[in-house]
Amino acid sequence: MLKSPKKAAQSLMTWYHENKRDLPFRGIDNPYFTWVSEIMLQQTQVDTAVPYFNRFIERFQTVCDLARADQAEVLKYWEGLGYYRRAKHLHESAQRICDEMDGVFPSDLKTIESLKGVGRYIARAIHSIAFNQPSAAVDGNVLRVITRLTGYDEDVMKPAHARVVEGVAQSMIEHATPKDFTQALMELGATVCQKSPKCEQCPMQSMCVAYQENRQAELPVMIKKTKKTEKHYHVFVVLNAGHAFLIKRPENGLLANLYTFPQYEGSLDAAIHAFESDVAARVKDTESLFELDHVFSHQIWHLTVHRVYLTDDSMIPFVSLTNFPYAIAKAHLKIIDQIKEI
Ligand code: ADE
Ligand code: SF4
Repeated sequence: MLKSPKKAAQSLMTWYHENKRDLPFRGIDNPYFTWVSEIMLQQTQVDTAVPYFNRFIERFQTVCDLARADQAEVLKYWEGLGYYRRAKHLHESAQRICDEMDGVFPSDLKTIESLKGVGRYIARAIHSIAFNQPSAAVDGNVLRVITRLTGYDEDVMKPAHARVVEGVAQSMIEHATPKDFTQALMELGATVCQKSPKCEQCPMQSMCVAYQENRQAELPVMIKKTKKTEKHYHVFVVLNAGHAFLIKRPENGLLANLYTFPQYEGSLDAAIHAFESDVAARVKDTESLFELDHVFSHQIWHLTVHRVYLTDDSMIPFVSLTNFPYAIAKAHLKIIDQIKEI
């Protein structure tokens, strides 16, 4: 992917030492400060975050100062930054560190990642920046730099592909001082390899695939998830002495060949008519039981579940729900679970 990770890392480091911005959270040896800054910077631009960072650490100078503060005061110091859940998680995690870890910020990657509000990227950023450990951290800036540098054109919204990008950064960090390397990649992404990149200023231009092939504008490839389609169905549960009526779904499409209770879109009346014409049965009565949502990758099902009573002359096959030999769709297994409780 990258011919010489070592050469790339060295060029980047030289550039960083000459060009880095002087930021208040740089060069201070305090994992708590690094943590606060990374949480703030995750969804906020550096210029906006800096004054907040300064005020925050002046008021809450240690993890335990933060832990002992009222949540209302912490939120006040966050006011205007948005995404207030970040502040709540920060506060909760500070209490955990203060109470359960003697106020010492954890240095182990797994423990760092177990903190509320800390995901893979922030954990690895703290591990490398605050503890100088070689854990490459990939945020949006880094993603841009690495995909362009290597010409990697897979959809990086997919976690497996994002891992490939992380692997390239990892192969570089091993040839550098981790705490500087992580910030150097972010810095290059933030100030040079921007959406519209300033390649003439880039220390890695000579090894950059996107530059050579003039593909900067195409990378990174990030395919936004399409909005899920919402579907509303009436589900008909016909029961008979522990047995139920199930149907098999078509052999193509969503949940192909799986079994479900019959389900229909549209009004309840229309659904009943459709059901009656699909099976040799007459509906005598229906009783609405409960509603249930089921989420697929591209659809959400909103299911309204009804118990259905048929006339005596109806002829439909019943199956046992306890030892049914074929696969039942997950959404309908949830229905079966709920029916058992009724
Ligand atoms: N964005 C997130 N963390 C950063 C850091 N440490 N330096 C610059 N930009 C960042
Ligand atoms: Fe980004 Fe241009 Fe540098 Fe390539 S040469 S890494 S596209 S700034």
